[in-house]
Amino acid sequence: MASAPALCREVTESKGEVMKDIRVGMVGTRFMGRAHANAFINVSHFFPVPLHPVLVAACGRDESHLEKFASRFDFRSTETSWEQLVARDDIDLVDICTPNATHMPIALEAARHGKHILCEKPIAMNADEALRMLQAAEAAGVTHMVAFNYRRVPAIKLAKQIIDQGRLGQIYHFNAVYYQDWLADPRSPFVWRNDVSLAGSGAHGDLNAHTVDLARYLIGEFEAVNGTQEVFVEERTKEDGTLGRVTADDCTEFLARFRGGAVGVFMATRLATGRKNLLRFEVFGSQGSLAFDLERMNELAFYSADDPDDSQGFRTILVTARSHPYLYAWWPPGHIIGWEHTFIHEIYDLLVAIDSHQPAVPDFRDGWKCQQVLDAVQASARCGEWATLEEG
Ligand SMILES: NC(=O)c1ccc[n+]([C@@H]2O[C@H](COP(=O)([O-])OP(=O)(O)OC[C@H]3O[C@@H](n4cnc5c(N)ncnc54)[C@H](O)[C@@H]3O)[C@@H](O)[C@H]2O)c1
Repeated sequence: MASAPALCREVTESKGEVMKDIRVGMVGTRFMGRAHANAFINVSHFFPVPLHPVLVAACGRDESHLEKFASRFDFRSTETSWEQLVARDDIDLVDICTPNATHMPIALEAARHGKHILCEKPIAMNADEALRMLQAAEAAGVTHMVAFNYRRVPAIKLAKQIIDQGRLGQIYHFNAVYYQDWLADPRSPFVWRNDVSLAGSGAHGDLNAHTVDLARYLIGEFEAVNGTQEVFVEERTKEDGTLGRVTADDCTEFLARFRGGAVGVFMATRLATGRKNLLRFEVFGSQGSLAFDLERMNELAFYSADDPDDSQGFRTILVTARSHPYLYAWWPPGHIIGWEHTFIHEIYDLLVAIDSHQPAVPDFRDGWKCQQVLDAVQASARCGEWATLEEG
């Protein structure tokens, strides 16, 4: 096992200053590969990065797509084996953008080779795998982060600040829905996300992973959950024309109790016809409330019981002021940002954590905690009873 991360062996001349490079190896080159590559390229154009990302190698299984991806995003080289990528001496950071079943093996090998690790969510197939990843990364002394990019929406970070300032008082409710509709049509083809052996779970690990992480981030740990899951379309047609059995949930709903005393309702589905990627949550407290809607991601709705009686009501904060989280790096107030910016914020925070030798947030411990909640919901759905989370 490598004793310390192989960090930043090269330097780049940048505006007269010498900045250390961080050499990135990315596994997975489709949806998240594009989002992350874009973020690595653009982060230093806007944020005062302490390390300069260099896209050294991209890895995927489809060679012709891989070459196009590498050329478009200016990767210096390609690999078709992730084992070879993580073993390379010229890579400091491994970015895992592959289906969930591959997260643990890639992360364990990356840690063994002393690489820092960014891993897409959900961190793993189950909490046992997530714990192994956490232990391996900690033992190797590398920086580890889970890509819960919604924590990097400025409006959500502002919500966190308002809650932490105590402006909502005692929190009573956290309610969240995450709706997509790409599986509503029974003719929608069978993909890895329908196969529990590749995905771990369906809408649950894909969508509830985000809202569970947001709930932990905003109001704290879960105490108990009670869930139900459903598969509505049991077979779908594969690329080769054969039928694939859908083993991953189409939707998962659950009730929650939090250690702080609040209660919650969560729903994730990929069959919400007409809803493309709708993530909404509301937080109700004794002194105020917050509401967020990803389709209006530059806004945060805030109600304060401290406002005078004659002007009480929800106000819409346009979260684009210089004083708002991350916004100092972008445009003049009122000039909105988009979904891809959340990944740029994520990469900036990761680079700062690596450079300062501080833990990244959210790290593999957060990924593990989130996975424990996801697993508990599935256990509850199987037995039809509440499942309790262990404390600590
Ligand atoms: N943060 C978010 O908002 C968000 C959104 C979508 C997906 N995700 C997560 O990102 C991950 C990837 O999802 P995606 O939508 O990019 O998937 P995708 O199907 O679009 O891409 C998967 C990529 O992984 C590669 N791959 C698969 N198995 C491989 C292997 N054994 N070796 C090397 N490469 C391999 C494929 O070639 C492809 O490039 C998943 O964990 C998913 O849950 C996160």
